[in-house]
Amino acid sequence: MNEKVQDIIQKMTLEEKAALCSGKDFWHITGVPRLGVEPAMVSDGPHGLRKQDETADHLGVNESIKAVCFPAGCATACSFDQDLMYKMGKALGQECRAENVSVLLGPAMNIKRSPLCGRNFEYYSEDPYLAGKIASSFIQGVQSQGVGTSPKHFAANNQEYRRMSSSSNMSERTLREIYLAGFETAVKEAAPWTMMCSYNRINGVYASENPKLLTDILRKEWGFEGFVMSDWGAVNEKIEAIKAGLELEMPGPCEDSVCQVVEAVKSGALSEETLNEAVRRILEILLKEKADASNAVFDREADHHLAAEIEAECAVLMKNNGLLPLSKEQNIVYMGGFAKKPRYQGGGSSHINATRVIGAAEMAGAHTTYVKGFDVEQDELVESEIAQAVNAAKAADTAVIFAGLPDSFECEGYDRSHMRLPKCQDELIARVANVQPNTVVVLHVGSPVEMPWVNDVAAVLCMYLGGEGVGEATHALLYGEKNPCGRLAESWPLALEHNPSFLNFPGNEDGVHYAEGVFVGYRYYDKKKLPVQFAFGAGESYTTFSYQNPVVEVKEGVITAKVEVTNTGSRFGKEVVQLYVADKTGTENRPERELKGFAKLALLPGETKCAEFTLTQRDLSFYSEALGDWFAPGGEYEICFAHSSRDIRQVKIFAFETNQQLPLTLHRNTTVGALLKHPKTAAVLQPILPEQKEEGGEASKEAITAEMIRQMFINSPLRTLRGYLNYSKEQMDDLMAKLEQALKQ
Ligand code: BGC
Repeated sequence: MNEKVQDIIQKMTLEEKAALCSGKDFWHITGVPRLGVEPAMVSDGPHGLRKQDETADHLGVNESIKAVCFPAGCATACSFDQDLMYKMGKALGQECRAENVSVLLGPAMNIKRSPLCGRNFEYYSEDPYLAGKIASSFIQGVQSQGVGTSPKHFAANNQEYRRMSSSSNMSERTLREIYLAGFETAVKEAAPWTMMCSYNRINGVYASENPKLLTDILRKEWGFEGFVMSDWGAVNEKIEAIKAGLELEMPGPCEDSVCQVVEAVKSGALSEETLNEAVRRILEILLKEKADASNAVFDREADHHLAAEIEAECAVLMKNNGLLPLSKEQNIVYMGGFAKKPRYQGGGSSHINATRVIGAAEMAGAHTTYVKGFDVEQDELVESEIAQAVNAAKAADTAVIFAGLPDSFECEGYDRSHMRLPKCQDELIARVANVQPNTVVVLHVGSPVEMPWVNDVAAVLCMYLGGEGVGEATHALLYGEKNPCGRLAESWPLALEHNPSFLNFPGNEDGVHYAEGVFVGYRYYDKKKLPVQFAFGAGESYTTFSYQNPVVEVKEGVITAKVEVTNTGSRFGKEVVQLYVADKTGTENRPERELKGFAKLALLPGETKCAEFTLTQRDLSFYSEALGDWFAPGGEYEICFAHSSRDIRQVKIFAFETNQQLPLTLHRNTTVGALLKHPKTAAVLQPILPEQKEEGGEASKEAITAEMIRQMFINSPLRTLRGYLNYSKEQMDDLMAKLEQALKQ
């Protein structure tokens, strides 16, 4: 332990220690001013600085300082660009320094289990690998400025319905592979200073008082060295929380909690040692070498441009029949209020008091005309407005409709009830597309929407919630000043009913059953071979790419994979090379393939670059509940180099060798098949099994086939061998002993 920290702990009174474990107020960590440890400010996050003054409220009713609103998580994950995320984090870190904020409350990195979750716009992806990598770079960027982060909401907080009490109930494998894996990457690769635990329960236990989550997994397995703070109001039982590994209760002041801690130590219900450990973890962070803030500036102008630049790398061109990019020579009409006043962020605790927002209509200037078409807030069909839009579309060369979800449709605090755009917008798009084949739809949404008109429009450009620079980015992409290079970080199902969580979302008052297990997003659609509207990883470009010369090599358990990619079109563009691993070993119940690498290559026309990846055994593994650990079965795997999860360009097969076996539990009812699969027990059993052959005449051969005999045999419990082999009880006991012995060797 840091000597200074040790010294401070020795000098602290019990009351001071208890007070340090609760917030000073809404946005400050208490500190120990008497001993020179100043209180420190924390602020939301995640995609901008929401610094509030004393009249604080965490849901954003009171104004915060003017700050730059960067694209929200739903957009930034689509960049598939770790360098860009580092850059965004670094800019936010500088802003925090200039404003004396010590910890930025983000990134928000929960998995998008259902498209209906009200906070999906803040979250990254349905895929834990992508979410973990994007989060890691963002954290490293912020922390490079001597400012901490707080990845949230740890863990399995995938809905807003009853978010403060619902229990997310799932198997251990599901928890590890899908809902914890992203956090694990962030902790191991980026060492966040703090973590924010979620409101919900996990398999019945509140995240804030969950020793398995906060101590066994987070600290002992992953090596987390910072402190855990509660989400605002997430502490259920204070003493249980401290014992479980939650150091800081937010917000403060929590006089009751402080008294409770003092009492608990005095009565022996909480050991002072445990409290000291919590105090130590908070102090270590508070006393971290602070970056020099004297020269830090919050350059709102530069950061606004950065926000626009980032958004241009995130937006996804979902469809293009060749109409885009537009030309300034064309007679173009823009429609929908979002063209003038884009929707660029979501409601709730992440809401930024943005510096300035310019609509795409203003950027386009005299080249375009504008008609309203529909009201962005009301879902009301106004016939005269639609008729005006239809007429304007007929008269123009191209119609660009700026559609999107109104604020009230997606927000922190509640989930969406359906996956549709407002009816007035669907109607307008259908009617305009009916008269104008050159119709483009620009989407401002935080999560997928159904698109009944998609086959009738020429192009769809999804901006997600793109931050305050979204107008500039939209303009640059529509007119080809920039080439779209975002790829979807989530699948867009054809209909809500196709989503794997559909029958179990959002659960009831007791909790929600994650019945789909690890088959979330593309893992489900691919396994079920279901068509989707737009696949995970998909996105078009104004140029084209070819993939060639794939190579995969395995040396001492490390797998290197590479592929060459060429820009075969006539424009500069960026390709996101995606690497998926497919288990071909015959292991049951694994996804078809899973993302385990991505690289964004910038390519001039005709240029070729190589995308290189390094994989480890963990990238081949699933979480085995029998082993209580990750396990990669021996056998064949495919490495798929892909443009999207549904557009695989090159495949390489390799064999993975391992001596490790899954543990076999031996008892009277272990099946013969399981015993024959395990090499150690197979060696004992195989030699004593009689040959299985079809017997009897033609008629009985038809009734009892060799395959039937084989299947019945491998599915039989061990105890049935007694009759089959004609063994005495002693012989059976002897066989059992031999099998046990073999397993021990
Ligand atoms: C949200 C957190 C946020 C906190 C402080 C909570 O309601 O869930 O994401 O950081 O408020 O505003």
